Amino acid sequence: MAERDLGAERQDTDQPLRALRPRTLAEFVGQTEIKERLQVYIQAARARNEPLDHVLLLSPPGLGKTTLAYIIAHEIGGHIKVSSGPAIERPGDLAAILTHLSPGDVLFVDEIHRLRPQVEEILYPAMEEYKLDIVLGEGPHARSIRLDLAPFTLVGATTREGLLTAPLRDRFEVVFRLDFYRPEELAEIIRRAAPRLGVDVEERAAWELASRARGTPRIALRLLRRARDVAQVAGANTVSLAVAEETLSMLGIDGKGLDGLDRKILEVVIDRFDGGPVGLETLAAALGEDPDTIAELYEPYLIALGFIRRTPQGRLATDKAYAHLERTPSRLL
Ligand SMILES: Nc1ncnc2c1ncn2[C@@H]1O[C@H](COP(=O)(O)OP(=O)(O)O)[C@@H](O)[C@H]1O
Ligand SMILES: [Mg+2]
Repeated sequence: MAERDLGAERQDTDQPLRALRPRTLAEFVGQTEIKERLQVYIQAARARNEPLDHVLLLSPPGLGKTTLAYIIAHEIGGHIKVSSGPAIERPGDLAAILTHLSPGDVLFVDEIHRLRPQVEEILYPAMEEYKLDIVLGEGPHARSIRLDLAPFTLVGATTREGLLTAPLRDRFEVVFRLDFYRPEELAEIIRRAAPRLGVDVEERAAWELASRARGTPRIALRLLRRARDVAQVAGANTVSLAVAEETLSMLGIDGKGLDGLDRKILEVVIDRFDGGPVGLETLAAALGEDPDTIAELYEPYLIALGFIRRTPQGRLATDKAYAHLERTPSRLL
């Protein structure tokens, strides 16, 4: 139960976390290089009175793509229009969005790898020249007209870089890849969020939660809220180290921040496939899970920890993974 629970929690459902979103670049913790570059590009664009170049944000879920899109709009002083690949069903839907943008606005398209091809085609001239091509009528009488659009900035986000088409990717001048956060950065995010959640957090507790949050702000904030529940039920207003530890053990999260399904993935690769290589589809079938869920939500952190390696033949468990599960590779037996 705990792992299903946390799996769902990793996805983009932070309605209650909205109030915890940093609003300015300065409040955005970590990702120093991205912040520095954005600062320069935004300042330069403002000085030239031109829109910021289109920005593509790549990362696993929960690392701050949506937050950065809002921050970009805030910093350039434009409005933000938010949509997503699957939500824009027809070319006309995108045309309607584009024609309603004002100069300097930001159009944020989440899950941009899921845009339909006919919709994506509308986007190319819009991105390159701020033009919209519309076909009027049908058959021999069809004619095409070209409309001017307001100069805008497209911010695209995806968790699946590999599923982007080359022509779309090539039209982004700025591409940022967000990294997993270091524990000290997550501890800072927890410290800043605590007062807004009306709870005190002991320094050691912040560190404990931070170091077991899979390098992911969304998970760090969720763990904090769970810990607040545990503290509250115990009649306390402070998340102590004991409260943090109890919270983590209730959720089945181990010392490396792995939950039940993470460990099950490692176990299956090791025990059923002798450490691999095993293809994603086969692995997903053995786990009774959706391959996308594994590739998107679980694998990136297992790879970052050095527990799984991706090879052309499939996924391999490393010696580190064997050690974590206290198993011995068969070649050493
Ligand atoms: N660098 C950061 N500093 C502070 N909070 C962050 C940071 N990155 C993400 N968060 C918080 O983590 C949560 C998830 O971030 P979000 O932007 O929705 O991630 P993504 O869009 O990549 O899935 C949000 O509540 C956000 O406020
Ligand atoms: Mg998002």
